[in-house]
Amino acid sequence: MNNMGLKSKDMISAADLTKAEVDSILKEADVMLSHIKRKKPLDMLKGRILATLFFEPSTRTRMSFESAMHRLGGSIIGFSGTEGTSVTKGETLRDTLRNVENYADAIAMRNPIEGSARLAADTVRIPVINGGDGSNQHPTQALLDLFTIKVEKGLKGTKVALCGDLKYGRTVHSLIYLLCMYGMDVRLVSPKTLRMPKHVLDDIKERYSYAPVEEESLDGVVGWADVLYVTRIQRERFPDQNEYERVAGSYFVDNETLKKAKKGMVILHPLPRVDEIRPEVDCTSCAKYFEQSFYGIAVRMALLKMLIGGNG
Ligand code: CP
Repeated sequence: MNNMGLKSKDMISAADLTKAEVDSILKEADVMLSHIKRKKPLDMLKGRILATLFFEPSTRTRMSFESAMHRLGGSIIGFSGTEGTSVTKGETLRDTLRNVENYADAIAMRNPIEGSARLAADTVRIPVINGGDGSNQHPTQALLDLFTIKVEKGLKGTKVALCGDLKYGRTVHSLIYLLCMYGMDVRLVSPKTLRMPKHVLDDIKERYSYAPVEEESLDGVVGWADVLYVTRIQRERFPDQNEYERVAGSYFVDNETLKKAKKGMVILHPLPRVDEIRPEVDCTSCAKYFEQSFYGIAVRMALLKMLIGGNG
């Protein structure tokens, strides 16, 4: 498959992607999914090394990148938390990156500072994949979210409600670009204090001439949405914990919510969740968040192959 010119590129923001590039990633992810299902060992990235630099906690993003690299025959180096690294001695991000580029063929990085992924890409010659930079962007999550929507509901005319912490949640800041790119109908549901940032909405309007409806209550969208994308309130990003306490638990999805849902509605969540989706929902046919996490491996395999491996 042609790599759509993604070889050696960085993956910093969903806003950087063209529709042709996203189409090609989704297509390659389909191929990777069939390899995973057939448990076929691959050697496309044999001899190549991915550095996973996680300055912030992660379960899915780091482990699925590592799983993806192993499944492609490649190897992993890196760290999860800075304890045991020279960051604790005061080494700067730039200096850390300049050394890591000598050891690896690509970097997947998560860092709490917004803009750190762009800085990394400007610092090193090898591809940088943004695994989350503060509240800013999480483009590979958006790609796996889009892939999940494609598999579960299709992309044409799909109605998607993004719910929860739209202010600090980086996954929705990335996903909204891809949903609008594919012409989906989007509604935004959040407490007033956690609305989607204006700069994101302005950019969406400029690019797609589209302004998603904003609401405060889940009741307004459960009978409308084909996809209910729920997010966690990002406690760790609130400058004032009192502000967090005021909105914590302000909305949740349980079996009562599902009684009002459109037939066939699916629930996605980037995870981890706290209490915004009650465990009783897990065994319903609406719950697709663990499948979503599984699809992340196929999408990240596709990305690694396209960014590091080139044509296949
Ligand atoms: N969805 C996501 O980014 O999960 P982790 O924080 O576990 O990587």
